[in-house]
Amino acid sequence: MLSKKIEKALNTQIELEAESSNYYLAMASWAESEGFNGAAEFLYTHSDEERTHMIKLVRFINERGGKAIIPALKAPATKFKSLSEIFDIILKHEILVTSEINKVVDACLSDKDYTTHNFMQWYVSEQLEEESLAKLNVDRLRLIGDDKGGMYLFDRDLATLIPTASKKAK
Ligand code: FEO
Repeated sequence: MLSKKIEKALNTQIELEAESSNYYLAMASWAESEGFNGAAEFLYTHSDEERTHMIKLVRFINERGGKAIIPALKAPATKFKSLSEIFDIILKHEILVTSEINKVVDACLSDKDYTTHNFMQWYVSEQLEEESLAKLNVDRLRLIGDDKGGMYLFDRDLATLIPTASKKAK
């Protein structure tokens, strides 16, 4: 049975995963409308992954006798300056998600809730991969700078990162 404290921490995490999904969906839609088709595919997939992360939490809470809360969400931004801006935001956002996940893990330890602690380890490893992928994209964009040919290749190559990203969400 979940304690109220852990149930609350997990529900807060549901909200963050739902917000991430919505945020990345807004980015995907912007990229698609700007003709960045590789980035759009990548971001649509990323948005789906975040939804999977949310649902995993919803089901875990309910299975352990708690009550998952499906949150109302703020409307995400609709305009972005560039792909560089988008990937900078993603890296910052994923760093925030990692620190929030660490807080849930801390709460599990102080509550001696080893079952939830074990469940959260999936998120800990997931964040490691998400942060490193986000950092890779930020670094590549920094190298490309304003080079249009480089940007074209970056966009095209993003599609090749999708299978790995999508597989790890399952
Ligand atoms: Fe579900 Fe990107 O954290």
